[in-house]
Amino acid sequence: MMIIRPEKIKDYTAIHKVNELAFGQRDEADLIEALRKSDSFIPELSLVAVQKGEVIGHILFSPVVIKSKERVISALALAPMAVHPKFQNKGVGSKLIYRGLEDCRRLGYKIVVVIGHSGYYPRFGFLPARDKGLDVAFPVPDEAFMVLELGPGALDVTQGEIIYPPEFQEVS
Ligand SMILES: CC(C)(COP(=O)(O)OP(=O)(O)OC[C@H]1O[C@@H](n2cnc3c(N)ncnc32)[C@H](O)[C@@H]1OP(=O)(O)O)[C@@H](O)C(=O)NCCC(=O)NCCS
Repeated sequence: MMIIRPEKIKDYTAIHKVNELAFGQRDEADLIEALRKSDSFIPELSLVAVQKGEVIGHILFSPVVIKSKERVISALALAPMAVHPKFQNKGVGSKLIYRGLEDCRRLGYKIVVVIGHSGYYPRFGFLPARDKGLDVAFPVPDEAFMVLELGPGALDVTQGEIIYPPEFQEVS
């Protein structure tokens, strides 16, 4: 049986390892560690999938802001997420996303953006973000830049540029 729960201190090393194995490099694992040290880090939105006591997957949602001419709105960015290669394509990633989005909603967030695989995230309701009036300061292909409204109409009143925390610049 697999459970999904917020990370604990004892998971830090395993989270690093799962990310390094899944991405085949350390950048994302290092990014998580940098974000964890930042004031805006939300531990409840760093979730692990645990099976037989082993961390087999991880997802993180980080605060970002959407800056328009008139105002600045809080949102979340899904990044990074990783499933141990031995456990991929078994639904672990989907369960992490569904549970994570539920927690984001519970904490009052209305908008989640992701930069990632256009063949994967649309099944969870993510749509092309530029079609919804969002943009981002660094070059990202249209199909990879996606957004999900957690509340109906959240994006009708919110458009502008997504500002990622500075830690992301290291890996973008
Ligand atoms: C992407 C990832 C998190 C998905 O986790 P998972 O547990 O394997 O996903 P699920 O079992 O819930 O879903 C499997 C589906 O995801 C699809 N998928 C996996 N990787 C994909 C990719 N790179 N691009 C598009 N689709 C992908 C599979 O094809 C499969 O599709 P199907 O259901 O139509 O057959 C996992 O493959 C992973 O860790 N990849 C390496 C790291 C990475 O790319 N992270 C995401 C950064 S955006």
